[in-house]
Amino acid sequence: MISITYYGHSSFLLEVSGKKLLFDPFITPNSLAKDISLQDIFADYILVSHGHEDHVADVISIANRCQSTLVSNFEITQWFHKKGVEKYHPMNIGGSWSFDFGKVHMVSAVHSSSMPDGSYGGSAAGFVLEFDHKTIYFAGDTALTLDMKILAQKFSIDLAFLPMGDNFTMGIEDAALASEWIACKNIIGMHYDTFGYIVLDQEKATSFFEKKAVHLQLLSIGSTIQF
Ligand code: NI
Ligand code: MN
Repeated sequence: MISITYYGHSSFLLEVSGKKLLFDPFITPNSLAKDISLQDIFADYILVSHGHEDHVADVISIANRCQSTLVSNFEITQWFHKKGVEKYHPMNIGGSWSFDFGKVHMVSAVHSSSMPDGSYGGSAAGFVLEFDHKTIYFAGDTALTLDMKILAQKFSIDLAFLPMGDNFTMGIEDAALASEWIACKNIIGMHYDTFGYIVLDQEKATSFFEKKAVHLQLLSIGSTIQF
């Protein structure tokens, strides 16, 4: 069983095999997540898809307090190491590593990546995580890309986190097509409503996915589900 908690935007906490994995923490600057207390969040690992502020804002404070291991691309781990993050594991696209909770594959995303101070952030990425009985895809920020078809060939994805707020990433239609290309029937939406550019028509999204016989979940911030 995997427990999944939503902290808004693209930030999720996965609890699996007794470990807590936090994705793309952007909580304190997000007014929609004002009821989430950062101090209550514990992470053994922080996985970061790319360097943009809306994916890394709370990395330093959580990593320092929890002694979390930062898992991201080489450039991002180096940038945070210089800022005092002690534990980190650098990866790059195409690579895999077995951690104590499961195996992580860093996969491609079509997006940009720079650090909050403007320095180079390497390539934006997504993650595929293979746990004991489940395989999960966290797409990060990305456009629809043919590379997603590789994921269907290599993995049997049980659950996928897909951005769908449009403007900076895929919108509803492309995210639905992505779910076909990765051959996954369980989707959790992310990267919507946080800013004016990415307001999601939730009814439209839900019915669009329904027509494709794909189960879309748009979690309320602070809620936890079991998968
Ligand atoms: Ni971004
Ligand atoms: Mn973003």
